[in-house]
Amino acid sequence: NARLYNKLHEKQVLLEGVIKCSVDGIVISDIRGNILHFNPRAEEILGISEDDARKILAQELSDLDDDERTRLYNVFKRQEHISHYERTYQRKDGKRLVLNLSCFAIVDENRGTLGVVSEVTDVTEKKRMDDYLVRVEKFAALGHVASVIAHEIRNPLSGIATTVQNLEMEYEDDSPQKKDLQSIIGEVDRLEKMLREVLDLARPLPLQMEEVEVVDLLASTIALLNKEAVKRKITIRKDFDCRSMTINADPQRLRQVFLNLTLNAIEAIGGQGEIVVSTAAVQTHPERNRRIVINFKDTGVGIPVSHLNKIFDPFFTTRENKGGTGLGLAIAYGIVHAHGGSITAESELGRGTTFTVYLPEADEPTSTSPGLETHLETGTETIMLVDDNDAVRANLRQLLASLGYTVIEANTGAEAVAACHNGVGGIDLFMLDINMPEMDGVEAFGKVRSIIPQARGILITGFVDDGVDVQQLPEGIVGVMRKPFTIRQLSRCVRLALTGSSLEEMTT
Ligand SMILES: Nc1ncnc2c1ncn2[C@@H]1O[C@H](COP(=O)(O)OP(=O)(O)OP(=O)(O)O)[C@@H](O)[C@H]1O
Ligand SMILES: [Mg+2]
Repeated sequence: NARLYNKLHEKQVLLEGVIKCSVDGIVISDIRGNILHFNPRAEEILGISEDDARKILAQELSDLDDDERTRLYNVFKRQEHISHYERTYQRKDGKRLVLNLSCFAIVDENRGTLGVVSEVTDVTEKKRMDDYLVRVEKFAALGHVASVIAHEIRNPLSGIATTVQNLEMEYEDDSPQKKDLQSIIGEVDRLEKMLREVLDLARPLPLQMEEVEVVDLLASTIALLNKEAVKRKITIRKDFDCRSMTINADPQRLRQVFLNLTLNAIEAIGGQGEIVVSTAAVQTHPERNRRIVINFKDTGVGIPVSHLNKIFDPFFTTRENKGGTGLGLAIAYGIVHAHGGSITAESELGRGTTFTVYLPEADEPTSTSPGLETHLETGTETIMLVDDNDAVRANLRQLLASLGYTVIEANTGAEAVAACHNGVGGIDLFMLDINMPEMDGVEAFGKVRSIIPQARGILITGFVDDGVDVQQLPEGIVGVMRKPFTIRQLSRCVRLALTGSSLEEMTT
């Protein structure tokens, strides 16, 4: 008997252990609902101690109506079980939970129902996620409908546009009819623009990927807006890192992002102001590709904190009376994310805003790749190379010559200045070592510039902290190259310096 008792006791301890450690909440009650046992996880989920739970009935835990209570009672009476029974539950701390219950009737030898074991899981978070996904799907479906409608409207709209344009041509320039028709054309244009944007937003993005040199794409995009900016007394400054930064991207789409961000910046600046577009590459992980970081910083009105989390929403705009549709940033967001990147905004009211686009860099072609040579940018211009170190100079001369350039050498700053004095002409670019005895690169270039006012130069430096203030480079210096650099970087920097007419600075 004692052995039997021990065995039974062992079994009970084991069972209690299982219940205690269960990751689900377990509530055991008798058939009337008196709570007999409440495991620690149930206490945690329901926010009520076992002692307190014993004082109430299981049905009081959830606000069951009478019908439901009777239904459950009958289910348990028939010794059936209930699975995936979902209830909301208001916890004492105010948090509203969604619970998933599975309930089993406990049956004795005479097939009478002794009680009910309920397994309780907290599915609040999962529910929230499910709801979110449904919303996303709904949004996608809505997008689809929107794009179908937009397509349907577009055709008749372009019919209207052509007809009105034809009509308009029939009237004299200052006739009132002509003015009316022109305003119709203006409105049709606006609708057309909006439809295009809705389509852009709703269309799943079939990206036409190719290797894109970020800086080139940025420079050519900004060039499109420069005229408008100048007209509004806004300067767009390019602060580009001239190391090659290649990404896999759809250039047309990405151009749209850059355009939208620059246009927004222009819009945000009331009178005079400045937009700085800068690029950098950041190594976030030694084994991962670098991240390309592009900043659009403006001195505009800024964005109030309460708007910051809405600006990327479709149709959020504060410029509705200036023709804004609120789609620019939503489109930019979609495109950047489709490229595996991200976009953020930081702003200080009254001072300005910075939008930052992050994009993953494309895989670097391996250095043994035979195609590498074809990536080098060559030229036939004449470059004067000023460096007091013979070995360094010879090396650089060789590299530049291999890129196709004609190289004139000078040992010292004074020698370079003297050559210019003596009328050595046709020099398209000066490359000067910063650190030279007697006359350093900056001083030498200053003197060169007083002889040849349109001279352009690149400074070469071996020190990271050489005191060169890239914000305050002497006029005409269009780039700073830090050693060591690769031939690819050299070819790129020289090319940019020679062609980028408004390039204020480049650094390696
Ligand atoms: N650089 C910025 N400075 C200040 N506010 C900005 C800036 N960029 C965007 N915003 C705010 O975000 C809103 C949404 O920008 P978004 O480009 O999506 O739409 P929009 O410019 O109003 O219209 P559009 O569809 O013509 O681009 C703007 O209305 C503006 O309030
Ligand atoms: Mg915009």
